[in-house]
Amino acid sequence: MQSVRIFDTTLRDGEQAPGCSMDLAEKIEIAQALERMKVDVIEAGFAIASQGDFNSVQTIAKTLKNCAVASLARATQKDIDAAWEAVKGAKYPLIHTFLATSPTHMQYKLKMSEQEVLDAISDMVAYARNLAPEVEFSAEDAMRSDPAFLAKAVDRAIRAGAKVVNIPDTVGYATPAEMAKTIRYLKENVENCDTVTLSVHCHNDLGLAVANSLAAVMAGASQVECTINGIGERAGNAALEELVMAMHTRPDLYPIVCNVDTTRISPVSRMVYSILGVNAPINKAVVGQNAFAHEAGIHQHGVMANRATYEIMTPESIGLMQNRMVLGKHSGRHAVEERLNALGYTLEKAELDQLFDRFKDLCDRKKTITDFDLEALAVHRLSAESAKTGYKLERFTVNSGNYVTSNAVVSVLCNGERTEEVAMGDGPVDAVFNAVDKLIPAPPHSLDDYAIQTISEGKDAQGEAIVKIRCGDRVVTGRGLSTDVIEASVLAYINGMNKL
Ligand code: KIV
Ligand code: ZN
Repeated sequence: MQSVRIFDTTLRDGEQAPGCSMDLAEKIEIAQALERMKVDVIEAGFAIASQGDFNSVQTIAKTLKNCAVASLARATQKDIDAAWEAVKGAKYPLIHTFLATSPTHMQYKLKMSEQEVLDAISDMVAYARNLAPEVEFSAEDAMRSDPAFLAKAVDRAIRAGAKVVNIPDTVGYATPAEMAKTIRYLKENVENCDTVTLSVHCHNDLGLAVANSLAAVMAGASQVECTINGIGERAGNAALEELVMAMHTRPDLYPIVCNVDTTRISPVSRMVYSILGVNAPINKAVVGQNAFAHEAGIHQHGVMANRATYEIMTPESIGLMQNRMVLGKHSGRHAVEERLNALGYTLEKAELDQLFDRFKDLCDRKKTITDFDLEALAVHRLSAESAKTGYKLERFTVNSGNYVTSNAVVSVLCNGERTEEVAMGDGPVDAVFNAVDKLIPAPPHSLDDYAIQTISEGKDAQGEAIVKIRCGDRVVTGRGLSTDVIEASVLAYINGMNKL
């Protein structure tokens, strides 16, 4: 049976999307969850982009043992050197270098002639190949390139030693028939094309990324690049969960196997949404809240008689255990650890000790602890990790009502020192945020977004507050978790300010 490699670029192309930036601890958590899900390649970042990117690629490269770790690099020696430095500690390191081949990109962005582009491909792939055992070359904007020129570019990359040649639909312009035609054309017209892994990387501007990827695979592509929840530039990339479940659900049409463990899909999807501080669109294919909900009476009736009436895949096949009540007051540390592992989280001993303390606290305030509560505790520990040094909430009081101007007193601790401020505001949340602004020195910033939601159900549910604070081009996410929503809000704001 034909097999396809799954190349996940959540941490690189996904992270490039506005509002999707993640910090080191969050990226490591996702990388480990992806490894456990058995993707074949993880593109961990773009090493030259910043010191932060470099560090995360390097750490992920050293941490993972069961999948290849790639760094993106433009086709320049400086980029390739940085990519290699970052991935060389990996068990399976991979340099992914790219250069555009479309007339528009070559003329306006690169200002290079066709000949210069072809020569740069030969030189830079060979340069990367001297460093790394596995090099992937991407012909950026391939789907708007002249097919004959694209074939020459692919030929150059193969001759220079690329093991993977990727055909990106960078601007999401292609259709499934075109995608299939291009793959067939390359296979027929490029010598030795069958000796390399031919890959595709589809963007979703026309909502066709998954369909295009599947069409390419059916035409002979043997790697697909995708992201969890389809996050990525503009309308995003092909969604891993949709691609994998399409192949899983329709083996009659897609007799293709991949290594991904589908039962990891739901936890990993929730982890990524949760780290980004957004909710899945309720009707998102495969992982949306309504993907397995049957509201209409006639549908419910059918599903009760036989699930196959309205369900083409089972919730269990994607690892969705519907809001199971899992743990409580009497659960031990081991049970908590096991459940966290099942949900895709990997905790060091000290982290587990801390989380277990928070779990016990929560048990005192809340009768039943669901998977969602546990996931929230795990994600919030990541945020706390990235703001370890900084201000901590000591206490706050708020006075608010519909006949008074809200006012708040907030005190924080930093390096053992306590400071306190009073502020007024348009409501209790505004008042505590204003007090924090007085307490924590920071560059000019604004609040881009503030959201509060409950984790699981019931009056004793935890509230999760998410703030997005903008400072110039940079947006940081702060989170707070508490059964008191004002406390969750002030914790989120302090967390965001610490990251700033
Ligand atoms: O969309 C694109 O062309 C890319 C390449 C760098 C692979 O992300
Ligand atoms: Zn892309």
